Amino acid sequence: MSETANTPLGKLRLGVNIDHVATVRNARGSAYPDPIRAAKIAEQSGADGITAHLREDRRHISDADIEGLMAELTLPLNFEMAATAEMQAIALRHKPHAVCIVPEKREERTTEGGLEVAREENSLAHFIAPLREAGCRVSIFIAADQAQIEAAARIGAAVIELHTGAYCDLHAEGKFDERDAELVRLTEMAAYAHELGLEVHAGHGLTYDTVAPIAAIPQVMELNIGHFLIGEAIFTGLPTAIGEMRRLMDDARV
Ligand code: PXP
Repeated sequence: MSETANTPLGKLRLGVNIDHVATVRNARGSAYPDPIRAAKIAEQSGADGITAHLREDRRHISDADIEGLMAELTLPLNFEMAATAEMQAIALRHKPHAVCIVPEKREERTTEGGLEVAREENSLAHFIAPLREAGCRVSIFIAADQAQIEAAARIGAAVIELHTGAYCDLHAEGKFDERDAELVRLTEMAAYAHELGLEVHAGHGLTYDTVAPIAAIPQVMELNIGHFLIGEAIFTGLPTAIGEMRRLMDDARV
């Protein structure tokens, strides 16, 4: 085990995902609530980055939202997208700070699993090459699985984002032994990915109840959190929700 195994590698960044501000807006086809306004409030409330997923069906974030975010934000944008030619063209037009490649199925409610990098290695390597050349930090959203991590390193990704959805679901279902086993997998795979030279991020489904053990993984450098924060903001406001998440992350990191 390396001497840094239990020492955080640096300050943990919080990327606030604003997709579900757009979900509420789109429910009524109105102009509000505005995700760009939410991004600006997140910026003032301690977010280190903004994450937005432009889905093929545009069910939440729209093309105009991405344009607005690129024009008005000073925080780095993490642009989540499926590996399609349409999305690649959009990303190459905007050149966001980071592009996170996620799997996308039309019928799913949210991004349900990690990307199959190992099976699609050649096509993904070709797909991300122009994004890398354009200066985007390419991140690959994957399960805590050694084969997927090795494939992500081989295709030249700079970052992997570990999918914390299974860990959060097991917590919510009260399956604490299985949750703890998934946490061990996430912890080991974060260390392994770091050894391979990948920057490690994590996200999906995180809440006040589940964030601390993930924030405590020393190699994790960024958490991307959306649905819970936007929901919590209904009750406490976005600055308070983000501030409390930030506090829990920082406390776990010490
Ligand atoms: N990271 C990735 C790659 C995602 O696809 C999502 C969901 O869009 C998140 C993080 C945020 O997940 P949640 O909205 O459940 O916090």
